[in-house]
Amino acid sequence: MTAKVVSIINLKGGVGKSTVAMILAEYMAFKYHKRVLAIDLDSQANLTSAMVRPVHVEDDLKRTNRTIAQMFLAFIESGQVIPASNLICPNPNWISNINKYEGVCLDMIISTPDLAGLDEKMLDRWEDIDTVVDALSTLAVDRADELDKCMPGIVNFLSNPGDVKTPTQKNLREIRFVLKRGLQSVLGSYDVVIIDCPPGLSISTTAAIVASDYFVSPVIPEPLSLLGIDLVQSRIAKLKNRLSDVKINYAGSILNKVLQWRNAHRTESALIYGLQAAHRQPHPAGKFKPFKWWIPDAEHLRKLGEFECHTVPDRDFNPATPGEFGFVHGKYGGTNVRLSSSKEYALDRKNEEGPQYYLSRRLERLTDEFMKRIGLSQSGDQTNDEAIK
Ligand SMILES: Nc1ncnc2c1ncn2[C@@H]1O[C@H](COP(=O)(O)OP(=O)(O)OP(=O)(O)O)[C@@H](O)[C@H]1O
Ligand SMILES: [Mg+2]
Repeated sequence: MTAKVVSIINLKGGVGKSTVAMILAEYMAFKYHKRVLAIDLDSQANLTSAMVRPVHVEDDLKRTNRTIAQMFLAFIESGQVIPASNLICPNPNWISNINKYEGVCLDMIISTPDLAGLDEKMLDRWEDIDTVVDALSTLAVDRADELDKCMPGIVNFLSNPGDVKTPTQKNLREIRFVLKRGLQSVLGSYDVVIIDCPPGLSISTTAAIVASDYFVSPVIPEPLSLLGIDLVQSRIAKLKNRLSDVKINYAGSILNKVLQWRNAHRTESALIYGLQAAHRQPHPAGKFKPFKWWIPDAEHLRKLGEFECHTVPDRDFNPATPGEFGFVHGKYGGTNVRLSSSKEYALDRKNEEGPQYYLSRRLERLTDEFMKRIGLSQSGDQTNDEAIK
């Protein structure tokens, strides 16, 4: 089987893309025993700092050029596609702060701020090419006969520079395909590849769209956060029109940072779930395809970015590896959330969860729903379930 490639995209910043990428990657690897490759495609490198200790980022990975920026920069420079296998972190134990046990496969390609220069570098290159083509065009007008004798066809090229591509110009156009090509050789080794995209529409996000089978969008149930979805969808529709091999599908949106007690969140959530609320019509079906299992705004999740945080229940703490979590439930399961009030009808999941739930169990259900939506069958290790109770 070849891996499903899924990008986490929303043009809006701060909605939880990196957090959701981490949750899905860790639950699939630790709970459901999927072979997971996580890729940080954001120059802010938030997923990287949440998953890998700075010492490994600086001393081991950056120093040996194992970063996603290498794939893009090498292609701009030389047209060479570096296979993803050359960029994957060589020691799986450096990834994630949950203890690895046998059978767990969670690999990662990290990001660094170098990636931030990518769009600018590309623009510089375009300008360089234009300058050269301009200079040659002037020359061609003056000495067309002579030039054509030396290089047959050159005059025609210079009068239609858009039709003929210099190697560098070609690289710049084809950079959209670099991630797809780079991933080819590793797809057979994983069940799923999760790509954490930056906010906004950059070259790297476009490359992720081209490389992916699905995308998922975390959204906060607030009007501004929802705008990002329209933009992503129209961008993808345009790309599909232009490039025949873009096959990405929308797997849905995951409501994140939901504050049940906040009226605005309740109203917007209801509209997303297709219900009428506050005299407003529901959003059209298919626009958000919301996941049933939403993620609450939880202090516990806010802290997860701190790699070495010690908010681990004693029972899961392993003194042999201080600062690390025993099981996935140890990392995410600390919160016990009570759902009350029938007013939260759109968000109410009491039938399945009971009146209160553990955050970790909720995230486990979310991951299960995610796997079903992307066509990954579940064959999980149920033994760790005990750790949650
Ligand atoms: N459900 C949640 N509850 C509380 N805090 C959360 C939740 N989800 C994310 N956060 C926090 O919100 C902040 C932004 O989250 P995150 O970095 O995942 O968003 P992002 O969409 O990846 O941002 P960017 O667009 O900058 O890449 C982080 O501090 C994160 O810890
Ligand atoms: Mg992010």
